[in-house]
Amino acid sequence: MLFYRDKWAGTEIYNDIDGRLVNLFRIVKFHPEELKREMKYMLSSRELFKQYLSLEPITDIQKAAKFLFLISRSFGGRGQTFGTVKKSSGGATKSHANLLARIDSIHERLDKVLIEHKDFEKFIPEYDHKDAFFYCDPPYTSGCGYDVVTTGDFSHEKLRNLLKNIEGRFLLSYDDSPKVRELYKGFEIIATERQNGINNRTQKNKIFKELLIANYPIKEVYQG
Ligand SMILES: C[S@@+](CC[C@H](N)C(=O)[O-])C[C@H]1O[C@@H](n2cnc3c(N)ncnc32)[C@H](O)[C@@H]1O
Repeated sequence: MLFYRDKWAGTEIYNDIDGRLVNLFRIVKFHPEELKREMKYMLSSRELFKQYLSLEPITDIQKAAKFLFLISRSFGGRGQTFGTVKKSSGGATKSHANLLARIDSIHERLDKVLIEHKDFEKFIPEYDHKDAFFYCDPPYTSGCGYDVVTTGDFSHEKLRNLLKNIEGRFLLSYDDSPKVRELYKGFEIIATERQNGINNRTQKNKIFKELLIANYPIKEVYQG
């Protein structure tokens, strides 16, 4: 959402509880040149990938470099296995020059974006006001596929209870499951589909069913 939008609010805040993501965003925002310098020779190779998997970085810049290297050179961006491809130019074959250039464009985009590292239970009440808009991308109820320490104990009920009473507006994207439909009964819901980002032998071109849920009218906008 942050990177695909073309109209930006005066105040924008990015929040996640995953410290690796937050550190990467902060380093790209505040130390892009140092990050590019650190990554200059982190070229795509299976040996390097294996070494970085077990490496314990010391500084925050090194941590960001390791994380960015692993997610951009791995299968499906999961940071676990070296991402070779037969066709196209994904994973391991992505251009190193483009990766470094993207650090600059993301740095520019983050210029006025505040980066927070909070549990949603604290974050949402803290920033809620009548003109606030929260786009929430929580872990799926069926598991989110991200390598996230927090996913197991994520409370979907707590998120719903909080969002139900906010002053501002929210838009949520979720997996289309009976649990989510039950939790958000009475809210505006649109069922939609997207192509699964990861192609593998068992899930080739799999369609993934998602829900968009909001506390303001979205059906008209979506259909228009
Ligand atoms: C489906 S992922 C979305 C990630 C991100 N929006 C993206 O597109 O890459 C769900 C995210 O929720 C975060 N998360 C899990 N529990 C959280 C909590 N209690 N408070 C805030 N964020 C949380 C995870 O760290 C994970 O990055």
